[in-house]
Amino acid sequence: MWRSPDPQNVTLKTPAEQDGMRLAGRLTADVLDMIGAHVVAGATTDDLNRIAHDYIVGVQEAVPAPLNYKGFPKSICTSVNHVVCHGIPGEKRLKAGDIVNVDVTVIKDGWHGDSSRMFLVGQPSVQAKRLVEVCHAAMWRGIELVRPGTRLGDLGHAIQTFVEAQGYSVVREYCGHGIGRVFHEDPQVLHYGDPGTGLELREGMTFTIEPMVNAGRRHVKLLPDGWTVVTKDHSLSAQWEHTVLVTADGCEVLTLGREDRFRLGLEAPAAAAGAAG
Ligand code: MF3
Ligand code: CO
Ligand code: CO
Repeated sequence: MWRSPDPQNVTLKTPAEQDGMRLAGRLTADVLDMIGAHVVAGATTDDLNRIAHDYIVGVQEAVPAPLNYKGFPKSICTSVNHVVCHGIPGEKRLKAGDIVNVDVTVIKDGWHGDSSRMFLVGQPSVQAKRLVEVCHAAMWRGIELVRPGTRLGDLGHAIQTFVEAQGYSVVREYCGHGIGRVFHEDPQVLHYGDPGTGLELREGMTFTIEPMVNAGRRHVKLLPDGWTVVTKDHSLSAQWEHTVLVTADGCEVLTLGREDRFRLGLEAPAAAAGAAG
């Protein structure tokens, strides 16, 4: 990858480098597809961490990027209910009604894929489900704008106005990010902002869109463990994340799961089911 002449240190990935990102993105999605069946009442978030870690290392022969990243002690992040992001897996058991974000970052051949999804344990409240759905739709509002010429402020504005129109708030302290050989690189991708401002997207950029949406006020606080971010008012929080590549005329979502690939017609269900052709 080469350094672009932009004022920020934004890297543009060559076609070969884009293939590296595609594989890392696919493996990341595979972990999330695999972990869903394990997000059930009675499981601990440490169980999820161990299952994901063993799959990434043992099956994918890849590296879980969070482990030891700036001292983070686990291989994935698990953020339950009012935890906004960067929850540390532990002994706490999931219970019916919980909403859980699982955030996976896989390194394969030096390239990073980063994605997170919300999982519902049992039957969460109508309000919790709506929060999860609005956050998901907000991420897609952003993704749909990704193409050369769009500016980052356009993305942030689309996400913010959609979320606020639903009566929810967008977290400001954490944002999406460029990604490649480095986990978090330029640019910063804010989930709020003003149209017509910020960096202009160019073909070959790869970055994440990962809005955090609170049912209550947007303010957050960091717990004494130095990682766990919670809502200040203890309201529920949701987050979804994809890694995207800017293409000549739009974008490619590098971390689509199996269901999304079927839904978007990118893959026939039989292929992933392993049926003979
Ligand atoms: N995966 C998170 C992100 O989306 C970052 C986690 S950093 C960790 O950027 F150290 F907490 F794992
Ligand atoms: Co990220
Ligand atoms: Co992430």
